[in-house]
Amino acid sequence: MIRKYSFILFVAAISLISCISSKKVSAQTTSLKETFKNDFLIGVAINVQQIEEKDAAADVLIKQQFNAVTPENIMKAEVIEPKWNTFNFDLADKLVAFAQKNNIKVNGHTLIWHSQLPAFMRHMQSADSVKQYFENHITTVASRYDGKVYSWDVVNEALNEDGTLRKSIFLDKLGDDYVVEAFRLAQKAAPHTKLYYNDYNIEQPKKRAGAIALIKKIQAAGVRIDGVGIQGHWRAYNLPLNDIEESIKEFSALGIEVAFTELDLSVLPSPFEKVTADVSTTAKSDSTMNPYKNGLPDSVAQMQAKAYADLFKLLLKYKKNVSRVTFWGVNDAQSWLNNFPIRGRTDYPLFFDRNFKPKPAFYSVIATKEK
Ligand code: XIL
Repeated sequence: MIRKYSFILFVAAISLISCISSKKVSAQTTSLKETFKNDFLIGVAINVQQIEEKDAAADVLIKQQFNAVTPENIMKAEVIEPKWNTFNFDLADKLVAFAQKNNIKVNGHTLIWHSQLPAFMRHMQSADSVKQYFENHITTVASRYDGKVYSWDVVNEALNEDGTLRKSIFLDKLGDDYVVEAFRLAQKAAPHTKLYYNDYNIEQPKKRAGAIALIKKIQAAGVRIDGVGIQGHWRAYNLPLNDIEESIKEFSALGIEVAFTELDLSVLPSPFEKVTADVSTTAKSDSTMNPYKNGLPDSVAQMQAKAYADLFKLLLKYKKNVSRVTFWGVNDAQSWLNNFPIRGRTDYPLFFDRNFKPKPAFYSVIATKEK
């Protein structure tokens, strides 16, 4: 008798558990792209494995949750033009085919950037060679994907924190107008693709003013620029909401779209007072810099969930101006922040955990639409 009752109790407990977990499963299938379909595109940065559909768990999420993708690395110059005038389009072609097949828009990242350049051009001395490279690279890559790539980050990270132009091989050899010229060439090569300027920290007042001046210069030259990409590598505990709001207003006033192109909200302490997403920056680790290597405390996950919800509430307020929100990676394990600016940390900046399960941040953001 007692045995029988305990079995019934056991069965009841199992059904309760499966009921709860099936609720979890159906909640998981709530999709970001559906939830925000009338507001903005929801994108994700994808790596080689994901482009080749070799990461099965990520594949499910990419197709279920997102309607835009950005290649994390494979359209950068060092990959797509590894040798002078020798292009390797294999992975970019696969990316475009993957996106077409799944009705996903591609943001090309990126045509002109001072970083991840091929070795042959990093130390190029002659201005003529740099000019030739610049024209040939933009024209060849942008024309191949005209209309197949929905938008290009034509120029990435041309500005310093004070709003002046960053020292780079392009500025050195081509002069102040190189950004305008990059857009002019992209416009000619890709008339059916949107053209964006992309950078980090451009929500900050000084750098924002520099970006506005740059965009106005492009417009004054009669050259097309469709939008600005604010990368959005921020810290969950220090989200610059006021600066973000001010930026959306000021950039939109220029008649262009605003996208959040590389969103991730780190929960780890920063080794710097002024935070940067400059990929060349490194710092040494110490014991205080990697506090959650054994797991994300619930209080921190909740704090992050609130930060993400606050951000999305703001983005919804400006949904007419915001064209796309792209996360820089599918899940926490794949985030570049585990190795930047300190190598070998355990960060938790995204919506899906290391088992591809949605985190509190996912649900809090979905909930911003449920009221
Ligand atoms: C990062 C990638 O995520 C890493 O895999 C790579 O090693 C370095 O670049 N701003 C950008 C992105 O525009 O291209 C950078 O991506 C992150 C910062």
